[in-house]
Amino acid sequence: MKFSIAVLPGDGVGPEVAGEAVNVLKSVGAKYGHDFKLDYGDIGGISIDNHGTALSKDVLKICKKSDAILLGAVGGPKWDDPNASVRPEDGLLALRKALGLFANLRPVKLFPFLRDSTNLKPEVVDGIDFICVRELTGGLYFGKPKRQWTTTKGRRAVDTMAYNEHEVERIAKVGFELARSRKKKLISVDKANVLESSRLWRQVVIEVSANYPDVDLEHMLVDACAMRLIQNPRYLDVMVTENTFGDILTDEASMLAGSMGMLPSASLAGVPTADSHSLGLYEPIHGSAPRRAGLDMANPIATILSVAMMLCYSLGLNKEAVAVESAVDKALEEKYRTYDIMQESCTKVGTKQMGALIAERV
Ligand code: IPM
Ligand code: MG
Repeated sequence: MKFSIAVLPGDGVGPEVAGEAVNVLKSVGAKYGHDFKLDYGDIGGISIDNHGTALSKDVLKICKKSDAILLGAVGGPKWDDPNASVRPEDGLLALRKALGLFANLRPVKLFPFLRDSTNLKPEVVDGIDFICVRELTGGLYFGKPKRQWTTTKGRRAVDTMAYNEHEVERIAKVGFELARSRKKKLISVDKANVLESSRLWRQVVIEVSANYPDVDLEHMLVDACAMRLIQNPRYLDVMVTENTFGDILTDEASMLAGSMGMLPSASLAGVPTADSHSLGLYEPIHGSAPRRAGLDMANPIATILSVAMMLCYSLGLNKEAVAVESAVDKALEEKYRTYDIMQESCTKVGTKQMGALIAERV
């Protein structure tokens, strides 16, 4: 089959990890007879440098007419001036918003061969396999007012955590549908003991739950959830939460899987179904890691696993998605490790070699 994929490598280690993910995609194409047409575009800091904006209209247009978008990472010290009028991250937020990608799926799965490479006791992390559904186009990231100004008493800044019921309802549905397809247990994470937006969140989630009598719903406060993640991560199966909470909790959760370099993500505009073929954005959850950039060090697995999610959720190529995951598993079984998941008696490899090893094993 023929597919067009927009590739936005971005900044820092982004081009390196995206490059390896593309190699794996090409290897899928060769093995299974698919034709992936790649359209490259700038996003983030490189786009600011080349076009004066973090996301140009041309790139957005390319993304809109593609079957899926693969993204590396954005940001870096070069563009970090707090007074700058535009930031690399604006490009990513604008892309998510413009495409209505409100549902961010972040699976947290420990590859068995990495059980001894995490900072936690193996018996705590053994068998973890859950998914965080992060609301991606609302909440604290997008609420208005959002600004900084000077008052007679000094500088002041405000961000706004705002939700309307429609936004909560649609993300809750994604959570319930996923829960229904798994262990029929959904944890909704909020801060309803303090925040008004969380009280609305909780009410709407309860209302939506009426349509899912087969799914067991539990509410968890976000601080307790942060604790639970480390204390007993196997307790979790599907959780659904606000944008910022999800951002923070998934960085924490990545350590259960060994490293930030292991967690992929899919950003979708609706409920994913077994054979959905809708446009999605696929990116690792990690950032641009500027200190590692250009050193052939970064772990490309998070981006490669994002390709697996793309094959599944946007292209309907489930068998191919499984092949990519198995190839990752195989490379880990054969004891190849990037620096972030390095273990005794393993072979340390760089970004390129890890990518090549996985591509060969597809
Ligand atoms: C993520 C990243 C982004 C976010 C940044 C780069 C804007 O941290 O995808 O988790 O906060 O959403
Ligand atoms: Mg993040």
